[in-house]
Amino acid sequence: MWEDGDVRLSVVPVIALLAAIVLPGAGATQATERPWLDTSRPIEERASALIAEMTLDERIGQMTQLEMGSVDSAGVASLHLGSVLSGGGGAPTRNDVTDWREMVAAYQDAALSTRLAIPMLYGVDAIHGHNNVRGATIFPHAIGLGAAGDPALVERVARATAEEMVATGIRWDFAPVVAVPQDVRWGRTYEAFGEDPTLVSELGAAAIQGLQGTDLADPTAVLATPKHFLGDGGTAFGSATTGDYLLDQGVTDVDEVTLRAIHLPPYEAALAAGARIVMASFSSTRDGKVHADHRLLTDLLKGELGFTGFVVSDWAGVDQVHPDFDTAVAMAISAGIDMVMVPYDGQRFQDAVRAGLTTGTITQDRIEDAVRRILRVKLEMGLFEHPMPPATDPSVVGSAVHRALAREAVARSAVLLATDGSLPIDPDDTVLLVGSGASDIGAQSGGWTITWQGGRGAITPGTTIADALRDRIGGRLLAVGPAAGAEGLLADVGVVVLAEEPYAEGVGDSATLAIRTGGFLDQLRPKVDRLVVVLLSGRPVLLDEVLASADVVIAAWLPGTEGAGVVDVLVGEAPFGGTTPFTWPRTPDDARRTGKAPCDGARFPRGYGLTTDGTPLGPAACP
Ligand code: GLC
Repeated sequence: MWEDGDVRLSVVPVIALLAAIVLPGAGATQATERPWLDTSRPIEERASALIAEMTLDERIGQMTQLEMGSVDSAGVASLHLGSVLSGGGGAPTRNDVTDWREMVAAYQDAALSTRLAIPMLYGVDAIHGHNNVRGATIFPHAIGLGAAGDPALVERVARATAEEMVATGIRWDFAPVVAVPQDVRWGRTYEAFGEDPTLVSELGAAAIQGLQGTDLADPTAVLATPKHFLGDGGTAFGSATTGDYLLDQGVTDVDEVTLRAIHLPPYEAALAAGARIVMASFSSTRDGKVHADHRLLTDLLKGELGFTGFVVSDWAGVDQVHPDFDTAVAMAISAGIDMVMVPYDGQRFQDAVRAGLTTGTITQDRIEDAVRRILRVKLEMGLFEHPMPPATDPSVVGSAVHRALAREAVARSAVLLATDGSLPIDPDDTVLLVGSGASDIGAQSGGWTITWQGGRGAITPGTTIADALRDRIGGRLLAVGPAAGAEGLLADVGVVVLAEEPYAEGVGDSATLAIRTGGFLDQLRPKVDRLVVVLLSGRPVLLDEVLASADVVIAAWLPGTEGAGVVDVLVGEAPFGGTTPFTWPRTPDDARRTGKAPCDGARFPRGYGLTTDGTPLGPAACP
């Protein structure tokens, strides 16, 4: 009986010989004409062999990423595209799993129809589930996962997200955000895990491991993209220059030591976790736009940290580098951007690259390095062997198993900020439920849900807090919504769900940190014995009015489609275990935290949260 190893070792030459005889040309074609397809060769050798075959147009094509609304299959082929993306809300017409998979497959077929058949990479922002897809499980945004603070939970959520992405044919996620926000007035606060570099490092690495798994060549592995390098969460209030933004895409005006101490650790952890793509930040440092910063993108990331994957620009981020587009392209690529999320006019971008090569502002070596990095990642993930992932069961998208996981994450992310002991809602309590977020999946989900900015209402299938409470306590839920304001109605418990209006990126930058109470507190207070306020927000918000009226205050962040997780902590089916991952400022002016002591200008320090009976889970509330 041969040992297993012997069998492998002794028969291989015979098989290869047979293959060469029986399949004339097969072995030869792979071995000679297209050696980059020979998986027995080292990745570097395969990349070199392919690059040697590529024309300049084909090389520049690999560096080009266009959005799906700006390119059809013919364009993918004619421009030799390396990648196509869906921006926020970039969905096919029917926006169902089959439609998504057919769309991605059509783009891939076009890429494979080109002379060298280099497969394209399709990328999407799946930052809290596969959030562009109607019917997908929408998990709590990262701020909630930061409040739960459990890397294992983050990894499970990321893996579930990857499973839903693969069902639609997509293996590249522009996530996780590993920003370390230093001012919660930033509209992207909720996309991040917290203000502490160590927490962000741990949870960012867990998200990457969940998405990528243990073997990137597994056709169900999804590429992660830690973003946005470097310092996106540290911009100063009022430094933004994009539209009417206040902080987003502004200037991270700190010294090198602070930049490295706060914003770099998550990338060191991300690379150690196996990240192969990094997205550059729109923001600037004191040295100027990150998208044109050779010191950060090349010397630090690729040199000092030894990053061998590729850097992708942000959405038209290159355009912001210089008023002259050709100059901007040359500056960004020379600084270390390898793939450009153009995302509209591919021809114009490719012409700009050729112009740069002609004038010498871009070198052939830089182009070859960028292409090598892109091909390296495509080869590592087995994209040449599996241009499309397996056609898994479409019902995995929005599956009961994933929704149960999301419900668990929602309950574990809830933070009890204040209580007089009024929770849990008892089995015989009567309840009135009001508030702008009481019956609204869109309010529960926030931005980056179905559309870029998100939106109010029944935007995708899910369970509202009202649905879940009605399921749980039946007729003891006396009323929901404005009707609850009718005179004379009395109940043991009033629940007011206050919600921020959905927003994304700089659109959500806030000078006030206000959350609309809409008169619900005054309306309900005199009608109930115990008043509970649930906050649906992407960040800490001002609490003066709420704390003056409520007996209980809960931060539920942006829980997503599974509102039952909020009810689980309200009725005591799940314990309160969450702690705020951001310092809770007393006023907007106290929001900037860099260099401040935990309770300097703060109501609650980072890590604060209570158990149901009011016992602190971490540090005490600020004096
Ligand atoms: C956006 C975001 C970035 C996202 C990209 C594609 O502007 O800054 O996080 O991945 O564009 O949607």
